[in-house]
Amino acid sequence: MENSQYKLGMVGLGVMGRNLVLNFADHGFPIAGFDKDKTKVDALNIEGSEKKVKGVNTLEEFIPLLSKPRVIMMLVPAGAPVDSVINDVLPYLEPGDLIIDGGNSHFTDTNKRFLELKQKKINFLGIGISGGEQGARLGPSMMPGGPAEAYEIVRPLFEAASAKVKGENCVVYLGPGSAGHYVKMVHNGIEYGLMQLISETYDILKRGLNLSNNELHDIFESWNKVELQSFLIEITSEVFTQHDDKGDGMLVDKILDKAKQKGTGKWTSQDAMDIQVPLNTIDAAVAMRDMSAYKTERENAAKIFDEVDPKFSGNKNEFISALRSALYFSMITTYAQGMAMLLAASKEYEYNLNLKDVAQIWRGGCIIRAALLEDISKAFEAKPDLVNLLIDPKISSEIKKRAGDARFIIKSAIDMGIPVAGMSASLAYYDSYRSEWLPANLVQAQRDFFGAHTYERVDEKGVYHTHWNLK
Ligand code: 6PG
Repeated sequence: MENSQYKLGMVGLGVMGRNLVLNFADHGFPIAGFDKDKTKVDALNIEGSEKKVKGVNTLEEFIPLLSKPRVIMMLVPAGAPVDSVINDVLPYLEPGDLIIDGGNSHFTDTNKRFLELKQKKINFLGIGISGGEQGARLGPSMMPGGPAEAYEIVRPLFEAASAKVKGENCVVYLGPGSAGHYVKMVHNGIEYGLMQLISETYDILKRGLNLSNNELHDIFESWNKVELQSFLIEITSEVFTQHDDKGDGMLVDKILDKAKQKGTGKWTSQDAMDIQVPLNTIDAAVAMRDMSAYKTERENAAKIFDEVDPKFSGNKNEFISALRSALYFSMITTYAQGMAMLLAASKEYEYNLNLKDVAQIWRGGCIIRAALLEDISKAFEAKPDLVNLLIDPKISSEIKKRAGDARFIIKSAIDMGIPVAGMSASLAYYDSYRSEWLPANLVQAQRDFFGAHTYERVDEKGVYHTHWNLK
């Protein structure tokens, strides 16, 4: 193909970048690719040999390939690499050209870059992309934010490449500035919460009920056919079937119990604390990843606190069915926390988010896709300003049916000494949200006692202070 005819230029031809290039090209769009690493360029040219795709490894070759206004998309690691790509390509760009950051950038970095590029009359979009390597190749969920006019330039490409659910695209313009990257961050926070809840369920089934990997596979596989149907439950069921290719046994049993993190879950918790939104389950999930990293300390402590592990005794089938219900209960509360955070953030950062759209584009392609998102999307469609998902009529009836099972499972896990930080946090979120009265009056009394911080009264308006005395 001639120069100046490629609709989009991708910078960063790692697996994600390469797969997204091939996905756009599958839909008939000519796409150029750039990477300093020649082996990645070669990989793209080989895989894309039958498509309108061209990979190069110098910017001098790359820029002239692009049609105007030029669209340069980056899929590079968050942080300094994003700024470095922007600085590298800027000298070649003209006013009206568009840079897209498709990585997991922190939303405050996106705001900063947006303003800097605006001064240079360069458009900037922050687009959260979820779905991993396979999603990028076959259809991810994409969360675009930035100027609406800039998104219009690339909308046909993104709509074509996105996942589809019931004929609807899993991409929609979300809002100005960093709206897209913010929504992706909260997606990842929910992802952390769900993964923690599923891991606790696994722990209860494995250590508590002593189930084999085969039995675990069967349970998660069957749960993927009911209300729990979701990508994370599906891959979990598959994990238990993977043999270790380095020796005997199953791979899951050979994997070290230390969970790594790139930080998006932590960012979610951090910003939730800044804008004062309770995220009990997601906070617990981040804390449990941190706890998992203290492997050596845990090994030492296990020798000191060598309680005999009590095993489950009772009707296994009934217990497993209650566990399924408790997991669903906890998952619903996790989505509720994420959606409540988005509602608050939308006001705080003026994103003007439509939560129905968010739920709708999360139904396919992304890591947290789940049957439940259909109900979530309907809940926000019926009531766009729904303050909390838990009070939607359909969701609240699901929650009410399952709260007893959540209590039973959490109590059983506590008796067995199995940590269920995520499930307990989910139940605490629910119990505190539905609590007309919380003991925060005592916190206020204490604050006023030691710091004269004042308090409000239940029976009169105003702000009060008391001279408290230590007897
Ligand atoms: C996705 C994933 C993706 C990535 C996470 C992993 O939506 O496709 O969320 O963005 O796998 O960043 O996050 P941690 O390394 O923090 O677990």
